[in-house]
Parts: sequence; C-alpha cells; structure tokens
Amino acid sequence: MSESATTTQWVGRWGFVLAATGSAVGLGNIWKFPYMTGEYGGAAFVLVYLVCILLIGLPLMMAEITLGRRGRGSPVDAVKAVARESNRSSLWSIVGWMSMISGFLILCFYVVVAGWALSYVWKAISGGFGLGSVEAYEALFGATNANPWSLGGWSTLVIVITLAIVGKGVQEGIEKNVNWMMPGLVILLGIMIGYGVFSGGFGDGVRFMFAFDPEKLTAGAMLAALGHAFFTLSLAAGAIMTYGSYLPAKRSIARTSMLVAACDTVIAMMAGLAIFPVIFANNMDPSSGPGLIFMSLPLAFDQMPFGGVIALIFFVMLSLAALTSSISMIEATVAFLERHTGARRSVLCAWVGVVLWIISFFAMLSFNLGAGWTLAGKTVFDWLDFLTSRWLMPLGGLLTALMAGYVFKRSVIKEEVNLSGLGWVLWQFALRAIVPVGITLVFLDALGWLDF
Ligand code: PHE
Ligand code: NA
Repeated sequence: MSESATTTQWVGRWGFVLAATGSAVGLGNIWKFPYMTGEYGGAAFVLVYLVCILLIGLPLMMAEITLGRRGRGSPVDAVKAVARESNRSSLWSIVGWMSMISGFLILCFYVVVAGWALSYVWKAISGGFGLGSVEAYEALFGATNANPWSLGGWSTLVIVITLAIVGKGVQEGIEKNVNWMMPGLVILLGIMIGYGVFSGGFGDGVRFMFAFDPEKLTAGAMLAALGHAFFTLSLAAGAIMTYGSYLPAKRSIARTSMLVAACDTVIAMMAGLAIFPVIFANNMDPSSGPGLIFMSLPLAFDQMPFGGVIALIFFVMLSLAALTSSISMIEATVAFLERHTGARRSVLCAWVGVVLWIISFFAMLSFNLGAGWTLAGKTVFDWLDFLTSRWLMPLGGLLTALMAGYVFKRSVIKEEVNLSGLGWVLWQFALRAIVPVGITLVFLDALGWLDF
C-alpha cells in the first residue's frame, strides 16, 4: 500500500496544457459547439457562451486544479487531503467520488462514439466511402450500428488503446501521446479549414456560425450554453482535478486555466469553420447530432476534389480528439486504485478495462439488440449521457465551487491558487455567487421548473 500523496509531475513545460486541452477538446467541440452556435443565434450565442466560460467554467477549472494540486492525488484523495488540512469532515471526499464516477460513466458511452470515429477512419482507408447519396450514407451508418459484433469491436478497440496509453503511466503514456496527438490534431484541423476556404462555401459557413441573430437567443439557448461550458471544459469529471494533481507547484493556475479554456474555445470555433463550408458548398442542411458528421459530411466530401483524403484527415482528427479525452476520463480511477491497492498500473488498467468493457457493452447494445431496453423512453446510452451531463457534472461542479469558496480554509486555498488582490476577489466571488446561481438555474431547468 502506498498511501502517500503522489509525487508524479508532468515532465514538459507544456505537459499539463497539452493534456488538459486534449481532455477538453473532444466531440463537444467538433460537432456539438458548431451546431449549437448555428442553431442558437450565431455570434449572439457565442457571446453568451464566452461569458459562461469566463464566469463559470474558468473559475471552476481553477478550483479543480487548486484542490488537485493541493491534495496531490485522485479526486477522492485530493479532496480528502484538503478537507483534513482545513479541519473539515472527510465526507467531502464524496464530491471526489462523484467526479471520478462521472468520468467513468461518461467514458462508458463516449467509447461508442469514439468507436464510430475509428470505424470511419477504416472506411476512409478501405474505400468504404464514395456512396454518392444521402440514403446510402444513412444505410452505412445504420449498418455500422446494427451489427453488435463490429460496433462492439470498434468500441473495444477504443478501450484497449485508451487503457494501453494510461497503463504506461502519466509521463510515458499520457504525456508522450498528447505531445504528438494535440499538435497533430491542430495541423489536421488547419488543413480542413484551408480546404473549407477554397470549397466555395466558406462565406455561408461563417454566416451560419457568426451572424448576429439575437432573436434565436432564448433563455433555453443560454442554459444550453451554460451546460455545454461544463462538458466542453471536462469539468466535474475527475479529469482536470487529477491532471492538476500532477501540475508543478511553480506554475500559475490562473494563467494555465485561461490558456486551456482559450484553446478549447478557439478549436471549437475552428471546427465550425472546417465543417460548415463543406456542408454549404454542397447545398446540404446543417443537421444535428451524429448525422452531421457520419452522414452529411462524408457525402459532402465525396462530391469534392481530394474528398477521399480529406475524409480520412477529418476522421483521424476526430479520433485523436476523442482519444485524448477518453484517456483523461479514466486517469482519476486509475490513480485512485493505484494508491489504494498498490498494484501495478498496467495490471490495474487491464481490470479497469474489463469493467469498462462490460458497462460500455450495454451502451453499445443501445444501437442494436438493446434498442428496445428503455426506461422512461431512454436507452442505456441515453441514461449514461443524461445522468452525467444533466446531474452528476453540474452537482459536482456546484459542490466543488462551494468547497473552494466557502468550506475549506481560505489560507490553504489562497496559498495554493497563489492569487492576491483583485484576482483573488473576483475568483472567490465567482465561486461563491455566480457559479452557484448559474448551476441552480441549470437544475431548475432540468427539473422542468423553468418554463422556457
Ligand atoms: N471535454 C470533452 C469534449 O468536449 C468531453 C469530456 C468530458 C472529457 C468530461 C473529459 C471529461 O468532448
Ligand atoms: Na470540449
């Protein structure tokens, strides 16, 4: 049993930033944000979203990193350590449990979506595209989902890759891989945007995303922006707190968090500028959800020069984004088990992989055999998504803000975050007032008590 706090730290100057940005940049950026923006009022929505990132996402990210670094361990251990140092009940570590479990449960359905991405990389390589009609692509996506053996095979592959990386350790596995995956992702995205500029649809794409359309900016849209700010920054899912526990003491938590939040936002906007021009150049509708990426986009690529190569580039980019997020979702659990069992990381990862595989198997079946296994109209996949993004994450975020704003010793928090003057006052005001109010609104909305 090695019950002591972790001494592991990121090796490189950019280790934390790359890993945390890798966690943040995922499916949330590549299909959800661009679509929401077009749907909810373009530039007007972007403004509200930026305010949510700034007033709620950023302060919470700082709180997570502060607690993680102070407690030096998995969310459970870190929160417990800071509680002890503050003479507060160790029951607060329940918040750590919630985040850790939340990250695990998100991963259970995220691997299915990441599996789609990998399977489309394979289709791009093996000449599975070039189908030429919407119906054919609908059929292709349907067939991908209908066969539990192949869909399960792809999500199994995602699990294996994720745990192989995490199993090699924080430095040798996670850091080494994000070091090439994140630059790779940005380069591929750059190529996609360049392609979009020459596609003939660039103006329409920009207009769809950024036209200032306050009419569409309903209260519901604002709450959606708030909810998305959570998911997109990987908050309250154990990821950022655990990565923060490896952050060297001399790094500025405020500046690092701003950088990660800014990169996440810029990449989300760039993703829109890569996707929509291609869609509009082919006179297609910017449909929502999986349809946009797995049906409309491949068809659009078909009809364009170098479409086959560009499709490959796009799905490789999507897979990289998904993998750098998936490794971050499981690191908390692995770090926790490592400390409390003393077993080797690689061995633990094998076991974690098995449990993950079993639960994700049921999420995967939601698209074929288990499509009818519903509770209140939701499949296993839907439930995992709903429970985590509507409940566990906001609740974990609220409690995290309260811990860093009210519950734990000010001197401890202040020393660790290393802020003074206006910076400290603003941060504390956000944690004490803005975040609780914002999240309470999200809850009231989830309960259906706000009638938008
Ligand atoms: N931030 C990721 C995205 O936008 C999702 C994520 C959530 C990653 C929680 C880690 C933890 O896709
Ligand atoms: Na994101």
